[in-house]
Amino acid sequence: MNTCKCSKAEFGRERSETLSAQPEGTGLVTIEHEPIIGETPQATLQSWLTPNPLFYIRNHYSIPESVSQWELALDGNVDNALSLTLTDFRSFPIQTLPITLECAGNNRSDLEPQVPGNPFQNGAISTAIWAGVPLRHLLERAGISKGSVEVLFEGFDIGEPAPGEGTQPYLRSLPIDVATHPDTLLAYEMNGEPLSREHGYPIRLIVPGWYGMASVKWLRRISVLQEPFEGFFQTDRYIVEGDDGEPVPVAQMHVKSLISWPESNAQLSMQSHMINGMAWSGFAHIAKVEISDDGGETWHEADLVGPRYRYSWQQWHFAWSPKSAGHYTLVARATDEDGNTQPLETRWNSLGYIINGVRPVRVEVN
Ligand code: MTE
Repeated sequence: MNTCKCSKAEFGRERSETLSAQPEGTGLVTIEHEPIIGETPQATLQSWLTPNPLFYIRNHYSIPESVSQWELALDGNVDNALSLTLTDFRSFPIQTLPITLECAGNNRSDLEPQVPGNPFQNGAISTAIWAGVPLRHLLERAGISKGSVEVLFEGFDIGEPAPGEGTQPYLRSLPIDVATHPDTLLAYEMNGEPLSREHGYPIRLIVPGWYGMASVKWLRRISVLQEPFEGFFQTDRYIVEGDDGEPVPVAQMHVKSLISWPESNAQLSMQSHMINGMAWSGFAHIAKVEISDDGGETWHEADLVGPRYRYSWQQWHFAWSPKSAGHYTLVARATDEDGNTQPLETRWNSLGYIINGVRPVRVEVN
């Protein structure tokens, strides 16, 4: 069912001319001004759905200019190449899913020793209800030819990703089985509103369960490939060193939790308090969240509360009664239904990705 409340004209030229980039100071914690990079403020991490203006933004280049006659090309190793307009998109079946996106570099500022890259704290994560067309629907229409291994996605944004790399668009690929998964979306709505320019208007890819770099914004071209793609954002970045020293691509979000309340350095009264937070995993539902008030010596199970969906984070809370006044180190640890448990310490890596070790929150009870 089509859940969009906006008119078709809003997806055409009229709308793109009225959109402007989100002004600074609208509530995001600014990491960089140009390209715009901002994280969701700590207080907003308590709400299950992130309001659109507070959804974190991670851009590698400037936001591309609006395109008046947007068309998406689907080509490469297919039986019939397609060229699709927004009107075409709105005639296709729509799928609506709540999905949490986490930037692979979320919490990078926690790493010791520090690494270069955006110094995110814990706000490069947000959740929205995304609506769009399953990519699989379009790939079936085009017909994937024999010998295909990956699908490549190209954004309209372009720039030099690092000195000496040359000018190139944002390009990322997905294995065929992920691209054809029924929940992999070409999204055009976010929380019931058309995508904003910051988040990929008019159409972006949404890869549920994967770190955010896979969800290519401002799509202009989709190509089916016979060889694995190699490119800056695929094989030079978004990789970690494996045990054998070989590069391992960053893919699904590793199991993780955050404490939304209380904040670090909070002064609390000597009474019962409801500690709350979120937990998520790109691999499976969250099975449990445990809390420790002694820095990880002893653990107590929290209650999982609120909506429970496969690709969105899980809210939890824990009624905590401090035994006496003093300093406490609160930590939360999540486990998913595949048996993955959040590690006590992040595995350090030089590019600063997959930072999912437990994060101490120190409070004082008076
Ligand atoms: N798509 C394009 N075209 N250009 C980009 O720079 N950044 C990626 C991804 N898609 C990016 C992109 C990264 S690293 C992340 S974490 C997510 O978009 C962030 O999506 P958001 O800004 O909508 O939160």
